Amino acid sequence: MTILSIDGLSKTFDMHVLGDTQVVGLDDVSFDVQTGEFLAIVGESGSGKSSLLKCLYRTYEPNSGRVVYHGPTRDVDLASCPARTVIGLRRDVIGYTSQFLDEIPRVPAVDVVARPLVEQGHSRDDARETARDLLTALSVPRELWEAYPATFSGGERQRVNLAQAIAPRPAVLLLDEPTSALDPETRRAAIDLLSTYLDGETTVIGVFHDTNVVEAVADRVVVLDDGRLDRVVPVDEYDGEVVVE
Ligand SMILES: Nc1ncnc2c1ncn2[C@@H]1O[C@H](COP(=O)(O)OP(=O)(O)OP(=O)(O)O)[C@@H](O)[C@H]1O
Ligand SMILES: [Mg+2]
Repeated sequence: MTILSIDGLSKTFDMHVLGDTQVVGLDDVSFDVQTGEFLAIVGESGSGKSSLLKCLYRTYEPNSGRVVYHGPTRDVDLASCPARTVIGLRRDVIGYTSQFLDEIPRVPAVDVVARPLVEQGHSRDDARETARDLLTALSVPRELWEAYPATFSGGERQRVNLAQAIAPRPAVLLLDEPTSALDPETRRAAIDLLSTYLDGETTVIGVFHDTNVVEAVADRVVVLDDGRLDRVVPVDEYDGEVVVE
């Protein structure tokens, strides 16, 4: 079953500082995403990977094209639906971690991770228990759980971000280089967690630079080249080209 149909997606940026020139982020990108699959997005730096995820999450409003989410009761075009629909889908359906670490409010790490579960209606105790399990699985030291992530290292923050994004097991999960700041062992723990904590119902679209990670997690690979779709291939046909460490 198809959960997302991406059709003719384009995004350009007006660069007023550059004398009103335009920078192309995405150029006429189309592909479908199947329910429950793990899709890896790869491509050189600047090829449009983050722009694609941001168009799917509607951080960016595309210039043209459609991103149709085939929900249980109706189809929604994420490229053009009202902002209030986007807010509801972000709460109930779509999770996202950005490539760069967002400013995190002055809230203990365990509550940062628990928050989406509380918003979904879980009790605070249950939500915090799940949050602690996720932080344990990601080897975030116990003494940091009640501390504010603002002071954490890049890799610690990245793990808090990842735990928060996966905690509610969203139907669609968008991950922008979620393990880039992690050492090999912690990265492996994060990858394991993605497959053990998320059941087959979560559809994951993840940007990864590391070919080993792509081969470990992905069902199919979307290769972007200079804002355009180069190819979509099953992971066993993916040769690792175009990925630059
Ligand atoms: N907000 C923005 N304003 C202007 N240009 C942008 C913006 N976001 C992206 N771009 C441009 O769009 C192109 C694609 O950028 P994007 O961040 O999507 O690349 P990427 O594939 O994620 O790269 P990386 O691997 O380095 O993260 C780049 O040329 C970039 O400069
Ligand atoms: Mg990027």
